[in-house]
Amino acid sequence: MPNIKFYNGQNIPLELHKTRIVQKLNLVPIERRLEALNEGGYNTFRLNTLDVFLDMLTDSGTNAMSDNQLAAMMQADDAYAGSQSFFKLQKAVEEVLGKKYFLPVHQGRAAENIISNVYVKQGSCVPMNYHFTTAMAHITQYGGKIAELLYDEAYVINSTHSFKGNMNLEKLEEVIKIHEPKNIPFIRMEASTNLIGGQPFSVQNLRDVRAIADKYKIKLVLDASLIGENAYLVLKREPEFQNSSMAEVIKIMTDLADLVYFSARKLSSSRGGGICTNDMSIYKELENLVPLYEGFLTYGGISVREIEAMAVGLYGLWTIP
Ligand SMILES: Cc1ncc(COP(=O)(O)O)c(C=O)c1O
Repeated sequence: MPNIKFYNGQNIPLELHKTRIVQKLNLVPIERRLEALNEGGYNTFRLNTLDVFLDMLTDSGTNAMSDNQLAAMMQADDAYAGSQSFFKLQKAVEEVLGKKYFLPVHQGRAAENIISNVYVKQGSCVPMNYHFTTAMAHITQYGGKIAELLYDEAYVINSTHSFKGNMNLEKLEEVIKIHEPKNIPFIRMEASTNLIGGQPFSVQNLRDVRAIADKYKIKLVLDASLIGENAYLVLKREPEFQNSSMAEVIKIMTDLADLVYFSARKLSSSRGGGICTNDMSIYKELENLVPLYEGFLTYGGISVREIEAMAVGLYGLWTIP
């Protein structure tokens, strides 16, 4: 591809793409589509793709691969242990998410399983801005419960508030006092709060949550599956960051968390996930469960081809203008 640069009206370089892969779609007659919906009990998860024209079921695993990702997949180093593909991903995690210790897992919920297994006990309470289904399921499976602490504004559908994913700081302190810090294994912040329509939190809110976490000596866990979208909205909406880059905002956000996990199905490629931290003791606490549930520490249940695609895809977060 020749190195042609495009600029927007303010002379800011734009990254444009062209799509070169086509896939045949099926537009079956309306009678068959109605029949299929009926057969599936009007549950779209039960449809067969042969009956579906445009599949908008989920954002999960639907990313188109770039030419660079496909090229990297061809160079994957297939080894049970010590694969070069893993080291590329580890470097990408360190450069993009700013965390040097990395544990690969097969997808986001696998990270939630390992984190909950280690930290959540009977009677634990995990405060969070809002739940994601799989996060809540793992926390409750290990005997904990969750406390969802959004501001009331978040539930006002037509509100134009910029940061409806913000954690309600007053309620957070209240919940910590009621449950006592010893019963709170971590506070969970989810970037671009998925189940309320992808609403972001502000960096200032994350800083305030960090300060409360420090005050009560509680870990702060960031679900970064949708961090690109959250960082982009911070650039657009939080005045302090209007001249910052995606790389800077993402690093500022991840630096505030003790532990970051993600589903790569949304973040960077079409499969995979990971857990990362700069705290060796956290890494050590989680490490043993990766070979038990996922696979050896240098593949974690992900194919090496996918690991290559994840590494390239992570750098893609920097290119959003
Ligand atoms: C915010 C968030 N966290 C966790 C997950 C779970 O990830 P996975 O589907 O890869 O298990 C998802 C999936 O959609 C998600 O959106």
